[in-house]
Amino acid sequence: MSFEPLAQRANRRRFLKPFTGEAQWPPPMWLMRQAGRYLPEYRQVRAKAGGFLSLCYTPELAAEVTLQPIRRYGFDASILFSDILVVPDALGQEVRFVEGEGPRLDPIEDVGGLTRLKASRTGEKFSIVAETVTRLRQDLPDDTALIGFCGAPWTVATYMVGGRGSPDQAAARLMAYREPQLFGPLIQLLVDVSVDYLSLQVEAGADVLQIFDSWAGSLPEDQFARWVTEPTRVMVERLRRKHPEIPILGFPRGADQLSATFVRETGVDGVSCNTAMPVSGMVKLAEETGRVVQGNLDPLLLVAGGGQLDIRVTEILAAMKGRKFIFNLGHGILQTTPPENVARLVEAVRRDG
Ligand code: CP3
Repeated sequence: MSFEPLAQRANRRRFLKPFTGEAQWPPPMWLMRQAGRYLPEYRQVRAKAGGFLSLCYTPELAAEVTLQPIRRYGFDASILFSDILVVPDALGQEVRFVEGEGPRLDPIEDVGGLTRLKASRTGEKFSIVAETVTRLRQDLPDDTALIGFCGAPWTVATYMVGGRGSPDQAAARLMAYREPQLFGPLIQLLVDVSVDYLSLQVEAGADVLQIFDSWAGSLPEDQFARWVTEPTRVMVERLRRKHPEIPILGFPRGADQLSATFVRETGVDGVSCNTAMPVSGMVKLAEETGRVVQGNLDPLLLVAGGGQLDIRVTEILAAMKGRKFIFNLGHGILQTTPPENVARLVEAVRRDG
């Protein structure tokens, strides 16, 4: 397989420039969860697909909803439409999306639950997702970058062990303390299959990867080092071996003061900051690590809109100007976001040229 060098790709897709060391202004932008229920055209396709997972596993429809926010807003990057829970589903764990309630999984409680997971089964589902990526690379405008992604092992494990989302991830944290001989191999398995999954996405045409660790912030530092930093470090190392130039963004949400160490130790090329990180913290992170920084508008401010939105956008841009920066939210876009506020945001960021 031959890959176009990153520097050459970046000439066509400015989103990639910061990863080659060149800051861009106005900064490249995209929004986490930019495809989704705040868009009426998404709700239409979603209704046609039936279940959420069948939407993820129908390349034609998954590609269509990936393209919707690009058509509307012309973001610099698109993100493959899928979900972090495709990985447990592909491993054979029962995963359901209950309308209005979020994901439900048959929780892994003991060694029996772990041994029922089958890495050898993942190929079937992963190749469907890769087909969506192939299709997207054909259908996207040539100047739009394509982001592939997966959940980080820790965050995916919190759902696999807890059986659902929870405010404190107590089930997984307890298993990590009480039964590291069970939790460790689960994380190891997730590292292995996630590297395969991301490699397939790169081979199908993804330009950048993002690893979502949405629940990184619930761990004390020793547990953070063991279950967040170390598995991500191994993933980055293995991905680099296969794809030396692929830019990798980490999103250790809530890592706060551990962010710089996370970046240094994992070797990610860029880091996404959550809403609570002060702009001075993003500046410091950019200076200390020399890596790309992404963030961090409050998704609720995008729901609120108006003059306050403009003020905050100006503050973020003023602090990050001249740096290797990607404009984004601090977490996923909310379902109640008025689409016209997104248009206002795009205009505000692009005006700052
Ligand atoms: O960003 C995008 O537009 C690409 C697609 C994407 C989805 N989920 C689609 C989705 C991405 C990158 C994700 C990541 C994801 N999924 C994360 C990490 C980021 C974060 O938000 O913290 C997590 C923790 C999940 C797990 C998940 N998926 C939950 C908790 C839920 C239910 C809550 C919700 O927002 O509905 C989902 C469902 C989901 N994933 C939807 C979408 C568009 C809504 C499903 C629907 O249409 O009913």
